[in-house]
Amino acid sequence: MTKQCPIGIFDSGVGGLSVTREIRRLLPGEDILYFADSAYCPYGTKTPQEINARSATICRFLLAEGAKMIVVACNTASIAGLDLLRQLFTVPIVGMEPAIKPASLATRNGKIGVMATGVTINGDRFHSLLEKYSNGVTVYTQPCPGLVEAVENGQSSAPATRLLLQKYLAPMLAAGVDTIVLGCTHYPFLRETVQKICGPEVKLIDTGQAVARQVERVLKQHDLQHTAAASGRELFYTSGDPEAVGKVISTLWGKQVQVQKKSI
Ligand code: DGL
Repeated sequence: MTKQCPIGIFDSGVGGLSVTREIRRLLPGEDILYFADSAYCPYGTKTPQEINARSATICRFLLAEGAKMIVVACNTASIAGLDLLRQLFTVPIVGMEPAIKPASLATRNGKIGVMATGVTINGDRFHSLLEKYSNGVTVYTQPCPGLVEAVENGQSSAPATRLLLQKYLAPMLAAGVDTIVLGCTHYPFLRETVQKICGPEVKLIDTGQAVARQVERVLKQHDLQHTAAASGRELFYTSGDPEAVGKVISTLWGKQVQVQKKSI
């Protein structure tokens, strides 16, 4: 494995692009392999065992394609099995977790909301996070079924998606939260609508930039930073329909990209 090898990134679908765009911004010289597991999306309705099996299969694929490190750009897969993946593979693996710590520091009234998938909210790792970082803060959690599918289907700005968001945000807003954690990598693509519904006083927090900084730190630690100053390439793969997924990825990535089908 060399510095010139790509970074492998995966998510249940296109959500991980909200993390990948931050990695691209911070590390313009790195090559990136992105795997969207669209045929198995959403992960939020699957068992941790099913999710972990998919994560391991995708990691094996990315490593076979030469990845020098793996980024699990999915809160659900990270909560379900990050430790397990670190036992299975020797390359550095960076995962994610909902931003409970930054939200607990940011709140002014001691009330925060967390939007995430059911698997994330029920995960042991999530409960440890709450115990560790939510001292003196009341946390209102909200599973949000349907939002991942809306982003996957290119319906982020659709009226039906706004209605769904209004429904999920209402209990947290009624409780008076002043800070909301976007605890799923798909949700930053709904940020504008969420902000409009909540109003400007509510602070929204996601971890895309923090994860990108962690990727940079880990690459440095392992002496794996690409030597090129810029022009890293991206290759996109999906287990789903490459044309349909390609359309959505091109919109979210901001340029026309080709997506290759990989039935793994
Ligand atoms: N992007 C995933 C996350 O961060 C979505 C999970 C899903 O597919 O339900 O949790």
